Amino acid sequence: MNDDVNNPPGKFISFEGGEGVGKSTQVALLRRRLAELGIPVMLTREPGGAPGAEEIRRLLLTGTPDKWDPMTEVLLFYAARVDHLNRTVLPALGRGTWVITDRYADSTIAYQGAGHGLDVAVVDEIHRIATGDFWPDLTIILDEDPALGLRRAMVRESTIDKEQREDRFEQMTVEFHQNLRQAFLNIAGQNPDRCRVVAASGTIAGVAGDIWQQVATAFSLD
Ligand code: TYD
Repeated sequence: MNDDVNNPPGKFISFEGGEGVGKSTQVALLRRRLAELGIPVMLTREPGGAPGAEEIRRLLLTGTPDKWDPMTEVLLFYAARVDHLNRTVLPALGRGTWVITDRYADSTIAYQGAGHGLDVAVVDEIHRIATGDFWPDLTIILDEDPALGLRRAMVRESTIDKEQREDRFEQMTVEFHQNLRQAFLNIAGQNPDRCRVVAASGTIAGVAGDIWQQVATAFSLD
């Protein structure tokens, strides 16, 4: 067991992007591809990914868009994130399991920072204090015109009871989602070693192929 949390044997991969860009489908396909190579791999998500963090997820994602003020919201996301890291991600990486997470801290920078106007430097500072500045080895940013992604996400949510819908963020305006897209692209530009932007508008197989190319190159697989 390697207990150096800054350099564990497993790899940590995050998927980021706006609403309805097909992250969950692509995350599952990448998991299968890695497993086929005999790599131990687990899928997880944020907010959530551990029992306590899933409880916080419910507080965050249900209700009206103005339910929380921006600082409370960020602190709740970080409470969930630290729980997720300590209970799920770091133990798995320490065992040599690769971890793929559907969203991580770039979502906080994009949604709470660029989206809700909280100073990104404040989010960075909270990130350093809460996680010891822990970042993925690779971040795949799925990029798509928000009008397309939102339509897909709304069709999905409309099949669920109103009180149970995790659609607090999907209720925000189109302008909010345009800002989000730009925020993710800026994050990619500022973190070229860690982030790869993949266009999400192609076929499922085509997008999966583009993602695989990035992963295989980053970790010298194939
Ligand atoms: P989810 O249903 O998982 O949406 P998606 O399929 O788009 O990933 O809900 C996660 C929501 O939480 C999504 O709207 C993005 C938002 N979010 C933040 O605002 N900040 C964060 O730090 C994270 C992790 C998620």
